[in-house]
Amino acid sequence: MSGDLGFNKIAGALLATGLAVIGLNQLSGIIYKFEPAKKPGYAIAIVEEAAAGGAEAPDVAPDWGTVLPTASAEAGAEVAKKCAACHNMAAGGPNLVGPNLYGVEGRKPGSHPGFAYSATMTEYGNKNPAWTYDELYTFLKAPQATMAGTKMTFVGLKKPEDRVNMIAYLRTLNASPPPIPAPNPKAAAAPAADAAAPATAGAPAAGAAAAGAATTAPTGAPAATNAPPAKAPAAAASNPGK
Ligand code: HEC
Repeated sequence: MSGDLGFNKIAGALLATGLAVIGLNQLSGIIYKFEPAKKPGYAIAIVEEAAAGGAEAPDVAPDWGTVLPTASAEAGAEVAKKCAACHNMAAGGPNLVGPNLYGVEGRKPGSHPGFAYSATMTEYGNKNPAWTYDELYTFLKAPQATMAGTKMTFVGLKKPEDRVNMIAYLRTLNASPPPIPAPNPKAAAAPAADAAAPATAGAPAAGAAAAGAATTAPTGAPAATNAPPAKAPAAAASNPGK
């Protein structure tokens, strides 16, 4: 009897201790939850800056397969005059204030021999093995804002078309630029590809039977890629990848 009571007391004490510990945990959880609240200030600052830049709504990278085949490398060469004070772009050319940019597309960021990059750029290169069109599009818009700590003190190319043309021009200064991906009508429909939209819309309309087959790549691809013929094979090749 008394043995049972003793057991009950011990069990009760253990239970009480456990409850107290759990209670403390939850209490401290509540206290800590209320503490961090500083982020909103930052978010507002970023929004304001974007608005001040005058960019319409969301400035997301375009569908490169749609946009690059028709981009103007000549216009890009004009844009590149803004870079010339700091960048030589000839094959085997020197580093100036900034690194030589020949072949930069597809190159590891921060990796051109003989140039003293910022720690930020070197670190960026360690995380991103090669400059992609998307990354350049973002970086060139406002280098200092998109890569805090970069040595590139250039205000940036605010206009999306300037960046697209610049990227097209850089493709011509490259022994093996990254391939232009297959056009993706779905992605293109969202932002910058008014040109592709009618073509895509026309395809299902033309072949009523194709309506159900719209999602099968072989039927859809040739119709949608009428404009840049060279890209059709790439469409099939890159579909499984993405
Ligand atoms: C005021 C000088 C200056 C101007 C103007 C300038 N850049 Fe730069 N750029 C730099 C410097 C300095 C770096 C190295 C950045 C670092 O190490 O953080 C750089 C880095 C780059 C990189 C990365 C290179 C690499 O090897 O990873 C690219 C791409 C680039 N610039 C493109 C451009 C383009 C395109 C333009 C013109 C639209 C331009 N820059 C204008 C100074 C400049």
